[in-house]
Amino acid sequence: MNESALFEQKVASETAIEPKDWMPEHYRKTLIRQIGQHAHSEIVGMLPEANWLTRAPTLHRKAVLLAKIQDEAGHGMYLYSAAETLGGDRTELYQKMLAGEMKYSSIFNYPTLTWADIGVVGWLVDGAAIVNQVALCRTSYGPYARAMVRICKEESFHQRQGYEAVTALANGTEAQRAMLQDAINRWWWPSLMMFGPNDSESPNSAQSMAWKIKRLSNDELRQKFVDNTVHQVEALGMTVPDPDLKWNEELGHYEFGEIDWEEFNQVIQGHGICNQERLDAKRRAWDNGAWVREAALAHARKQNVRQVA
Ligand SMILES: [Fe+2]
Ligand SMILES: [Fe+2]
Repeated sequence: MNESALFEQKVASETAIEPKDWMPEHYRKTLIRQIGQHAHSEIVGMLPEANWLTRAPTLHRKAVLLAKIQDEAGHGMYLYSAAETLGGDRTELYQKMLAGEMKYSSIFNYPTLTWADIGVVGWLVDGAAIVNQVALCRTSYGPYARAMVRICKEESFHQRQGYEAVTALANGTEAQRAMLQDAINRWWWPSLMMFGPNDSESPNSAQSMAWKIKRLSNDELRQKFVDNTVHQVEALGMTVPDPDLKWNEELGHYEFGEIDWEEFNQVIQGHGICNQERLDAKRRAWDNGAWVREAALAHARKQNVRQVA
């Protein structure tokens, strides 16, 4: 059997593709891009939450939020490592992101205006991420799938801490309830956009589905998220900001309104509310961290020399 047939056979029989296996160049490139974008999202996703770290309402909330943000940094690191197993270069990928040549999730270009946003981000944004990432636990590339298993465990803590934080607000004063509803109104639609364009508008998806990089389509994942989440909104005594939302008994799914794709396109093209702010923050962090990288490399070189000696 030739290499290409062996690869196809492994994909068909759900045998993971491993770093040293032969793989089509396009498969490798697609994965480096996808894993790289995923890693960037974890890293940039720390920023909207960090905005509230010094203003968390209690020490307990601050400690929980800090732990969550640290988890996201860890997710970024696993993912950059997974990209490296494919020959992706961590620094090169990161520099592409800083130069605006590689994307990260559109959701992180929205501002976190109130404390309620932090709860809603954990609940809805990490909730949407979980739907996507649970499906990726069965992705065909072994290192990516294994990273997802661990990441999903941590994500489920993120989602729960978010829901616990919004529950406290839902059981609070009128002002707290209004703040929560406002946050849901602003984050609902951007959360649905996280799954990407409709299947009919997503030309690369078919190949990714055939290679089992993607296991469920954008629309299937989005539907799962809506079906999972509507009753959670209702349990809080809040409403979903979608007049077209209704339960379809026959299909066993919620029907929902049309996403504002013009807004989505604007944000992914760099014109969202916070695109500039996010990239500026990461560029500043890169420059300010130069001495740390230099010191770490110098230390590693010294250790190497000692070991050889
Ligand atoms: Fe994460
Ligand atoms: Fe998370």
